[in-house]
Amino acid sequence: MKTLHLTTSREDIAKAAKIIHDGGLVAFPTETVYGLGANTFDEDAVAKVYEAKGRPSDNPMIVHVARASDIGQFTRMLSPDIVALIENFWPGPLTLVVKKKPGVPDRTTGGLDTVAVRMPDSKPALDLINAACCPIAAPSANLSGSPSPTRAKDVIADMEGRIDAIISGDDCRVGIESTVVDMTGDVPTILRPGIITAEALEAAIGKKVKYDESLKEESKHVQLDPAAGVSESDFQPKSPGMKYKHYAPKADMIVIEGERSRVKAEIERLKKLNESIGNNVGVLLFEEQAFIEAAHDFFAKLRDLDAQGVDLILAGALSDTDGVGFAVMNRMLKSAGYNIARV
Ligand code: TXA
Ligand code: MG
Repeated sequence: MKTLHLTTSREDIAKAAKIIHDGGLVAFPTETVYGLGANTFDEDAVAKVYEAKGRPSDNPMIVHVARASDIGQFTRMLSPDIVALIENFWPGPLTLVVKKKPGVPDRTTGGLDTVAVRMPDSKPALDLINAACCPIAAPSANLSGSPSPTRAKDVIADMEGRIDAIISGDDCRVGIESTVVDMTGDVPTILRPGIITAEALEAAIGKKVKYDESLKEESKHVQLDPAAGVSESDFQPKSPGMKYKHYAPKADMIVIEGERSRVKAEIERLKKLNESIGNNVGVLLFEEQAFIEAAHDFFAKLRDLDAQGVDLILAGALSDTDGVGFAVMNRMLKSAGYNIARV
């Protein structure tokens, strides 16, 4: 398939909207990461998204709306909490999982009786949805398993020849995907952390939110076991329940977790050791406490290290258990397949 390369100009957005309207696939920028969009209500188009990404078709998609009121196309019930979150955070990097209204295609929601909805805070994304005259179902525009694309060139690297068009816009402002919150239970539950934190959500609705159990399990990988001694045998075996590859670079990757100066020293030590046996080693170490910058740069740096052809990436863990750093760590641990060395 020949992929059309488009800009964010009005004429190009109109071309892209026509492609979506006619059942085609268009990658487009949002404030979080680039999305791979199709007409939400066109089951064949949605099926093609799974094919282009190489993604299992039971994985539900986020539908993107251009007006908050368009959530009414997907659900019959707005609770006071849902309203408060929409008022506080839309447009923005917050996805709300709500009870699905009859008529929302199963293909889009992976057969669930819930649907994930978000209004992006990005002019080209909103222009595209408006011009297409339909909500756009869109996962991130990467091949399944690869790091999410935060720059047009990342989308081109993964999707050239696989989709109808790519809109090249600015680099994504946020850099990690939206916070996903399940609003269908008694307590709002964070399914995927993002730059809108638990604390911010709680402030908006005036009550506690919780993290999904699976996220707690994951964070245990980092917080438990304060094993001090440094040895090669400190590598954590991959957790059996978390075997799937997600956000993974082509290189192997180890996350080094612990007190900052020890992390730096261990990265240096492992770098030398691995270089001494002929490996090309890349380092991913963010400024301390600079969590927003880490979120912005994380996926782009992984892709740059892959482009440089490194064999091994040594990444310094961020010390944050709840906020934006926690959201970055959620991606970092997955990228590394839960290979963790504690120092
Ligand atoms: O920032 C973002 O959210 C980006 C941009 C393009 O908007 N999109 C994105 O889509 O990250 P994707 O498909 O890569 O991730 C969607 C996440 C998945 O973890 C999926 O399982 C979850 O949202 N999800 C979607 N619908 C759901 C539902 N009904 N119930 C629970 N989780 C759902
Ligand atoms: Mg994704």
